[in-house]
Amino acid sequence: METKLLYQPLESIEADAVAAVLFEDGPAPADLTLASFKLASAWLSELNASGEFTGKTGELAVLHQPQGLRAKRFVVVGGGKRDAFDAAALRKAAGVAVRSLKPKGVKRLAWLLGSGAADAVVEGALLGNFEPDRYKTSSDCKFLEAFHVVAPAASAEIERAFERGLVLGESQNFTRELVNEPANRLTPLLLAEAAREMAAECGLECEVLDQDRMKQLGMGSLLGVAQGSAEPPALIVVRYRPAAESTSGAHLGLIGKGVTFDTGGVSIKPAEGMEKMKYDMAGGAAVLGAMRAIAHLKPSIPVTALVPAVENMVGSRAQRPGDIVTSLSGKTVEVLNTDAEGRLILIDAITYAKRLGCTHLVDAATLTGAIVVALGHVNIGAFTNNEALLDRVMAAARAQGEKMWPMPLDDEYKELLKSAFADLANIGGRWGGAISAAWFLREFAEDTPWVHLDIAGTAWLDEPKPHMAKGPSGVCVRTFAELALDW
Ligand code: BES
Ligand code: ZN
Ligand code: ZN
Repeated sequence: METKLLYQPLESIEADAVAAVLFEDGPAPADLTLASFKLASAWLSELNASGEFTGKTGELAVLHQPQGLRAKRFVVVGGGKRDAFDAAALRKAAGVAVRSLKPKGVKRLAWLLGSGAADAVVEGALLGNFEPDRYKTSSDCKFLEAFHVVAPAASAEIERAFERGLVLGESQNFTRELVNEPANRLTPLLLAEAAREMAAECGLECEVLDQDRMKQLGMGSLLGVAQGSAEPPALIVVRYRPAAESTSGAHLGLIGKGVTFDTGGVSIKPAEGMEKMKYDMAGGAAVLGAMRAIAHLKPSIPVTALVPAVENMVGSRAQRPGDIVTSLSGKTVEVLNTDAEGRLILIDAITYAKRLGCTHLVDAATLTGAIVVALGHVNIGAFTNNEALLDRVMAAARAQGEKMWPMPLDDEYKELLKSAFADLANIGGRWGGAISAAWFLREFAEDTPWVHLDIAGTAWLDEPKPHMAKGPSGVCVRTFAELALDW
C-alpha cells in the first residue's frame, strides 16, 4: 500500500473516499471547520436526526458525490466521546474505516488528520489492510492501494510521527505474517532464515546458534524440547547497536518464545483446536518485528533479540515426563509435563542473554492457558522481579495502546515448583498456572531486572474485530519498539 502525507486543501484531494472522525458530543471539531465540511452539514444533521450516525465508536456513514469535493465519497467515522478519544481510539477508527471501505471497492483513501496523531492513523490503516489470506489461491479479499494522510499544515513533528507510524505498522504486519505461517512452512530453521533476511534488509547483525553449538554450550533444557522433532532447533540472535555509545549503560534484551508448533509432546494436547498452536512462536515473531522497527527508528541503547526456536513434537526421540535436564545455568529441571515446553526453552535463552551482557530483560511468550483464564483476550499478563522496569514496560504499552495487567509473584508461589529429584519442576500444579510459569523463568533471570509478558490470550484474535482481521494480532511489537526508543 502506498502511504503519503499531504498538505492540501480537502477540496482538491483526488481519492475514492475522504474520511474524517466525528464525535458523539458536539459539532465538527474546530480543526475540521473546512468549507466542504460545512457543505456536508445538511447531510450530517440528517444522519444524526435519523439516528443512522451519532458519532459513536465504530459507526461509519458514506456520502457519495459530495458537493465541492473531487473525492468520490465523503466518509465520517464515529470517534465516540471527544474526551475519551486518544491515540488508541484514533488507531482503531482508521482501522474501522479501512476495513469497512475496502470491501466496497475503495482503493484510494484519504484521511483528514485534524489534531490527531499521524502515527496512530497510519498504523491503524496498515493494520486494518492486513488479511491472513496468503494461501488462498483465489481470495476475495480486497485491499486499499493508497492511504493518504491530509494534515492541516506542514510540520516536522507530524512528518516524524507519520514515518514512525509507517515503520511500526509495517513491522507489526511483518510479525503477523510470520505468526500466520503454518508449521509446515515455518520450521525453526525457516524462522531463523526469516530473521536473517530481515536483519540483512535492515542493517542488523544476526547470528544463529545451531544444535551443535547449543550442545557445546550446554543448553540441555532447550535441546530436551527440540529432541522430539526431526526439525533441528535454532537460537536466533539479532543485534542492534546505536551509532553512538549509549551513556546509560543499559543493554536491553528482548526474548521471544519461538515454538513453531506445540503438540504438547508426550503430554499431548487434545486434537480440538490444536491447529492454533502454530501461533506458539508469536513472542519470537513479536521480538523480530520489534527489531525491524528498532533498526529503522534507531533508539540510543543497544538491543539484542533472542528467539529460541524449536518444534515440540511426539515421537520415539521425544523427551518423557520425568526426564531431568541440565540447563545452561547449571540448574537441573525435572520435566513433569512436556507441554510446559516454552519455559524450558526460554530459560536457556535468558541465561544466554545475560552472558551476552544484557542488563535488562523483557520476554514475550504464549506461555500458559492459565493467563487466558485469568485475563481473557484483553490484557497481556505482566510479571517482574523489578518494579522500575515493569513501570517502563507498562508506560510503553500505554503509549502504544496495548493493554497489560500486572500479575503477582509472591514468594509463596515459588514453592509450587519444588521437585523431589531436581532443582526445579517445570510445572507448578493446576492453580495459579501463569504465576508458577513466570516464577520458573524468574529463577533464571535471578538478579537481572526482568519482565515477563504472557501473551497467550492476546497474540491471536479468534474472531475478527472491526479494525483487525481474525488471526495474529502482532501484539508487543509497538510496545517493545517504544520501550527501546523511550529509554
Ligand atoms: N503454548 C502453550 C500455552 C497455551 C495453551 C496457549 C493454551 C494458548 C492456549 C504452552 O506451551 C502450554 O501448553 N502450557 C501448558 C502448561 C501446563 C502443562 C502447565 C498450559 O497452559 O496448559
Ligand atoms: Zn505446551
Ligand atoms: Zn507452548
